[in-house]
Amino acid sequence: MDAYRPVPHRFDRLPPEEMRARGESFLEEAARRRSVRFFSPDPVPRELVELAIRAAGTAPSGANRQPWRFVVVGDPALKREIRAAAEEEERQSYLGGRMPADWLEALAPLGTGWEKPFLEVVPWIVVVFEELYGLAEDGAKRKNYYPKESVGIACGLFIAALHRMGLATLTHTPSPMAFLSRLLGRPANEKPFILFPVGYPDAVCEVPDIRRKELAEISVWHEGG
Ligand SMILES: Cc1cc2nc3c(=O)[nH]c(=O)nc-3n(C[C@H](O)[C@H](O)[C@H](O)COP(=O)(O)O)c2cc1C
Repeated sequence: MDAYRPVPHRFDRLPPEEMRARGESFLEEAARRRSVRFFSPDPVPRELVELAIRAAGTAPSGANRQPWRFVVVGDPALKREIRAAAEEEERQSYLGGRMPADWLEALAPLGTGWEKPFLEVVPWIVVVFEELYGLAEDGAKRKNYYPKESVGIACGLFIAALHRMGLATLTHTPSPMAFLSRLLGRPANEKPFILFPVGYPDAVCEVPDIRRKELAEISVWHEGG
């Protein structure tokens, strides 16, 4: 068992006005983020994707297992294969009766469909895998704790880092996603979690006119006193 090995925590306590200003500026920036479904083919330096992955890798995780793997695809031939396989799954979901009517109804305002040309256009595809369990050097399974929650938080940081750098993405789940394990040669202990196309929005890029819930709708407070 690894021993507890504490180090001092460096923490800068800020003046209240600065705390508020930072909170407001983060909120304003976060509110401008949108999921993009029309991408430009303009190249994005690999270094920017690396920075976003490193930011994602700072996420908290159950028992610090860091159960995430970011698989980055820039190879045009592989992107083409991913598009073809994703569209095959999406065709069955949207047109083949695999999605129940209420799901299709929920998606209608988003204008999504089975076709995913952006998967070929975009400079990078980043597929995030959830590590279901770790593997010790002798091949023994090592339990991961709360991997889904941990990877979800890492994905949130990844999205925020891309947005902060001026890049766009889409949280994409072309389900079932087993084809991604096959195409990307991932082992059995990794499960596809979310696929992120990463690039710039196309010159013409529309997004659905959505409403975000108000604070009162998404929070409940028990302040006491
Ligand atoms: C877990 C998850 C899965 C999603 N899957 C898809 C998807 O497969 N295709 C798609 O077009 N959008 C997908 N979305 C994007 C949502 O439709 C989008 O986040 C939502 O409509 C809000 O829009 P916004 O991201 O622009 O704020 C997904 C979002 C999440 C969080």
